[in-house]
Amino acid sequence: MRNLIADLRAITGPGHVLAEPDVVAGYATDWTRRYSGIATCVVAPGSTAEVSNVVRACAAADALIVPQGGNTGLVGGSIPPASSDGRAAVILSTRRLTGLEPVDRASGQVTAGAGVTITRLAAHAASAELQYGVDLASRDSATVGGTIATNAGGIHAIRYGATRSQVAGVRAVLADGSIVGNMSGLTAGCTGYDLAQLLTGSEGTLAVITGARLLLHPAEPAAAVLLCGTAGIAEAAELTGLIRTAIPGLLAAEYLDAAGLALVREAAGLSAPLAADYQGYLLAEIAGTGDGNDDHVLEQIARAGLPPDTVLAQDARGMAALWAYRDRLTEAIATAGIPHKIDVAVPAGELGAFCAELGDVVRESSPGSYPRLIVFGHVGVGNLHVNVLGPDPDNTQVDAAVARLAAAHGGSVAAEHGVGRAKTGWLGWTRSPAEISAMRAIKAALDPAGLLNPGVLLPPETATESPDRAPT
Ligand code: FAD
Ligand code: MLT
Ligand code: ZN
Repeated sequence: MRNLIADLRAITGPGHVLAEPDVVAGYATDWTRRYSGIATCVVAPGSTAEVSNVVRACAAADALIVPQGGNTGLVGGSIPPASSDGRAAVILSTRRLTGLEPVDRASGQVTAGAGVTITRLAAHAASAELQYGVDLASRDSATVGGTIATNAGGIHAIRYGATRSQVAGVRAVLADGSIVGNMSGLTAGCTGYDLAQLLTGSEGTLAVITGARLLLHPAEPAAAVLLCGTAGIAEAAELTGLIRTAIPGLLAAEYLDAAGLALVREAAGLSAPLAADYQGYLLAEIAGTGDGNDDHVLEQIARAGLPPDTVLAQDARGMAALWAYRDRLTEAIATAGIPHKIDVAVPAGELGAFCAELGDVVRESSPGSYPRLIVFGHVGVGNLHVNVLGPDPDNTQVDAAVARLAAAHGGSVAAEHGVGRAKTGWLGWTRSPAEISAMRAIKAALDPAGLLNPGVLLPPETATESPDRAPT
């Protein structure tokens, strides 16, 4: 162990390897406080070449490697396992990989280091009158590498797609230390397997991403944000469809339920947004022209047939005030306890039926506790965040029951947050045995010694694949 730490210090310089147990423990616990593991040290290489040498040193010591960006992941993927069978576990932090090249206006692309935060990337794109397509409330800490590794979605996925749609290339270090990737930004052509897309959503199990070539979009400043009361998720989904058809430039369509609104109001000291209380709320953001003349957007909104109790904001302050109900919800929930966060995707037509059954499923799977259920998410892409407060954080019954319900409605057990350590056991409810075998074959080919994030994404080899596919 001491040799490995000395070897890593020789590669990065002594100041970039942290081995004090208290400090390491901070990196080995995730944002939710629900998942934590044991790491030998944290290493922060300063270049792709250093990442390669770190990976080779870990491979020589048979130490497992946990790539970590902003550590804002919510499924335990960014932290080491609680036990590594005697192997050392090294957290490889990308926080020093912060290079950001000038925006290439001709291609509408930019090259960014894996450790660049989404806030910094967004500001950089804005300085060239462009914008990055992925935005999320964790923007100040979440990194380019972490969002690629999880294929993060966020609030603008309805408009620009998830991170996968923004990736034109990556640079990465494989488990044998070799450096791969194409940062030319060429999106035309076909020369074999697309490694950048393979690594997108691979959750640190196939390679350490050190940089990326990212697509940018023309800036589309918001002209209006509206919030309306609904009878629940089904009506919110219907209204989203209505707005999408009637108003070009729908940038975001977000849902929160009555319990979520009450909690965020209490935690953040916010007043009631509407005259009456509702079962659920839809928040929508509409793009304008950016020249201050957005009368046509207002006319489209007026003609769209929205519920009478709709509040509309057009100035920056008013729009931010409406977004606060949604943006501050995750933190509000975290102040109320350690939540069970179950991120699922459900087809638009099934959202109502899924939510109608959800309350009973949560209560039945949380015996002995008084579960507090909060449902919110990116309704425009069928991505719901089911949060349950109350059951013991170590008890996974409620998580499994909700995931199973999503699968039973033709949905996915994991959506924008990924599979992490939390959901490996349920992968077979969403992916077929043949698909899981194919994924295992890729993993075995690229990382035969199982160095990169073992225990994340794929269930252990011993687990039977798809023991009981969820009922349809
Ligand atoms: P980490 O948490 O450090 O890591 C996440 C995973 O990626 C781990 O498996 C890790 O091993 C791997 N990884 C990290 N960096 C690399 C790398 N360079 N190479 C290879 N693998 C790597 N997520 C959404 O999708 N949409 C949201 O709207 C959203 N909102 C959020 C709001 C809040 C308040 C919080 C706390 C989280 C939110 N998240 C959201 C979850 C989280 O921010 C995303 O999953 C994000 O993509 C994680 O980025 P990160 O840099 O923090 O990665
Ligand atoms: C969000 O949409 O706010 C995030 O995915 C975070 C969460 O699920 O709490
Ligand atoms: Zn989300």
